[in-house]
Amino acid sequence: MRSLDPIITERLHARVSELGGISEETGRLTRSFFSDAMTQVHFRFAEWAEDAGLSFTIDAADNLRLRWTAPAADGVTRPLLVIGSHLDTVRDAGRYDGPLGVLTGLACIEQLQAWGEAPPFDIELVGFSDEEGLRFQTAYLGSAYYAGVFPETWLSLRDAAGHTLGEVLASRGRSAAEVLAAQRAPENLCGYLELHIEQGPQLEADACAVGVVSAIAAQTRARLVFSGKAGHAGTTPMELRQDALCAAAEAVLAIEAYARATPGLRATVGQLAVVPGASNVIPAEATLTLDIRHQADMSLAAAVAELESNTRSHAAARGIALRWEFLQQGKAVPMDAALTEHLKAAAVARQGNAPVLVSGAGHDAAVISRIAPVAMIFVRNRDGLSHHPDEYVAPADAELGLAVLADAVCRYAASTP
Ligand code: GLV
Ligand code: MN
Ligand code: MN
Repeated sequence: MRSLDPIITERLHARVSELGGISEETGRLTRSFFSDAMTQVHFRFAEWAEDAGLSFTIDAADNLRLRWTAPAADGVTRPLLVIGSHLDTVRDAGRYDGPLGVLTGLACIEQLQAWGEAPPFDIELVGFSDEEGLRFQTAYLGSAYYAGVFPETWLSLRDAAGHTLGEVLASRGRSAAEVLAAQRAPENLCGYLELHIEQGPQLEADACAVGVVSAIAAQTRARLVFSGKAGHAGTTPMELRQDALCAAAEAVLAIEAYARATPGLRATVGQLAVVPGASNVIPAEATLTLDIRHQADMSLAAAVAELESNTRSHAAARGIALRWEFLQQGKAVPMDAALTEHLKAAAVARQGNAPVLVSGAGHDAAVISRIAPVAMIFVRNRDGLSHHPDEYVAPADAELGLAVLADAVCRYAASTP
């Protein structure tokens, strides 16, 4: 088995640390869609791309795109293999969720070059600009654009400062109409590979550094707006109140109880906003976000329907109106069998086995599956902890992930006519 170049692996670890320090907030890692921090990250990639002889582009949706045309390219349009993950983060994030996949993809290309490989396809490394949905509460803005499936309705999504996505594009010199018109999936796309941290505890329990993904769970995001009536906190009798926050609080706990009682269901209320938000005023409005997932589409749909109906009747009993808005509804995504076989064979060769996992987390691969066969590997992370600043991947585990990815690309190349 060929060994990895220590210069490449050391560089990978150093780059993970460096990007972990590029943030839009002081003292913690937060990098959202179209932020200046993202642009700073792009500048670093521009230098690394030049060193590796890759072409460098930032597309209209702020996705980083580096292209390697291996030697012996003859001017004929060749198939395109994409390796990618995301460069945006959640608020107060760890440094591995997303960037590890992009940086390992870059290291993979460098390693293929160092091994003297000349695959019969081009490789594009993509750093998607928005997988987390931190800024607009809708995930996959970057990969949706890349896949040519970015809907016009997203242009009117608003960020916390009240700016629409269309306005944000315009402020970056991109007309929304042009962005929509320009989007198209790349031609000759033959496959997409993504390395990501597991973000869960299974690989640690299996004592394995690397696992292979079988499917990405179905996911729904919704916004629930409870509307009641403001009033004086000191004078309004308890039985005469229409307290929107109490209705929301009841819903939060009912959602948790429902998910705990439903095998395989994960439900999270991650945001709660109260209006007018004063200590001596009864809340008139409470808005919360619901993120809910299951690996089976039918089970998720049934859970969402039942939760909506239960929440409506509990709110109505309090005299509270409920607006239930779906922000995103994604079905479960199976991985491509043939591409996954290459990852499995590479994992077995390097590690002795290839545990198979379902991903509860969403990934750009879910969107790219609409235009290409996709496959993913996971790398173990400490305590399964993710979306947390203490997120950690041991360097040796990241290196095994890199080796499996690079071997899988070679296996795929060898199987390509
Ligand atoms: C992305 O991390 C998600 O699954 O929410
Ligand atoms: Mn994430
Ligand atoms: Mn991620």
